[in-house]
Amino acid sequence: MTRVLITGATGQVGRELVEVFADLEVTALDRAHLDVTHRDDVLDVVRRLRPHVVVNAAAWTDVDGCESDPERAHRVNAESVRWLTEATREVGGHLCHISTDYVFDGTARRPYREDDATNPRSVYGRSKLAGELELDPSATLVRTSWVFGRYGSNVVGTVLRLLDAGAPLRFVDDQVGCPTEAYDLALTIRGLVDARHAGPVHVTNDEPMSWFGFVQRVAAAAGGDPEQVEPIQTADLVPPRPAPRPPYSVLDGSLLHSLDTTAPGDLDRAIERVVAAMRSTVKR
Ligand SMILES: NC(=O)c1ccc[n+]([C@@H]2O[C@H](COP(=O)([O-])OP(=O)(O)OC[C@H]3O[C@@H](n4cnc5c(N)ncnc54)[C@H](OP(=O)(O)O)[C@@H]3O)[C@@H](O)[C@H]2O)c1
Repeated sequence: MTRVLITGATGQVGRELVEVFADLEVTALDRAHLDVTHRDDVLDVVRRLRPHVVVNAAAWTDVDGCESDPERAHRVNAESVRWLTEATREVGGHLCHISTDYVFDGTARRPYREDDATNPRSVYGRSKLAGELELDPSATLVRTSWVFGRYGSNVVGTVLRLLDAGAPLRFVDDQVGCPTEAYDLALTIRGLVDARHAGPVHVTNDEPMSWFGFVQRVAAAAGGDPEQVEPIQTADLVPPRPAPRPPYSVLDGSLLHSLDTTAPGDLDRAIERVVAAMRSTVKR
């Protein structure tokens, strides 16, 4: 049976990955059980388990927090990938790593392809790019964007809370990207890993929109009135966010769709799934 090691296993993507790989022999480790910044621990665990596949879902994803601690961002998002690469290579396994649209500067006028020039504008983006550069060419490098899901904190939970409180919904209309459901992402990662896809591949639900547009769709799925969502500009955010965001970070899905593998499905169905799951959790 294929042995799989999943790191960062209690994150919003990590939890979905654990379910999607459940038919295999999975070892799922959260930060308390494997801190990926500790080289010796990474080597020990990988030597002991000898996984055929390692899926790294561990990261420091606090984009604004990273701005004030670049050294930690580098340790968690970049250096750890060196240890995982070294360990996986030693046991002859396959590494799959997740990266982000924030490796691009957002000045493009068309969706970003895998081989487009990177130019991150934030500490988080720079640390994630440095992580990408630690990978062997045989590794699967999945770049994704704007992840939302039933686990963890993300914009869907925020919108549901604001709707329930009758609070104003103001979201920026000048940042455009592709929302991606964590479950769809995990399913797609499973397909790419099964195929041992080598190199970068962009994975999103393939519908570009602004945060304002996305929140309108979430509000509608939650039975709210999309008209009550108000568009604002990034410059109007109070307080301003420490980390610059790419104004346009749409990832081109052509490569993924040319492969004989699973791809994320319809965005509205994904939103409905997540809203329903979050509502049932709240009610329990
Ligand atoms: N969220 C997005 O919108 C988005 C967009 C593009 C790409 N991505 C990428 O997708 C991947 C998964 O992100 P996510 O959304 O699932 O983020 P998440 O919910 O923040 O999960 C990240 C997980 O990594 C763990 N972690 C942090 N430091 C660690 C360490 N030193 N050792 C081991 N585990 C550690 C965290 O544990 P603790 O909670 O205990 O710290 C958390 O469980 C990341 O590579 C991220 O960069 C995310």
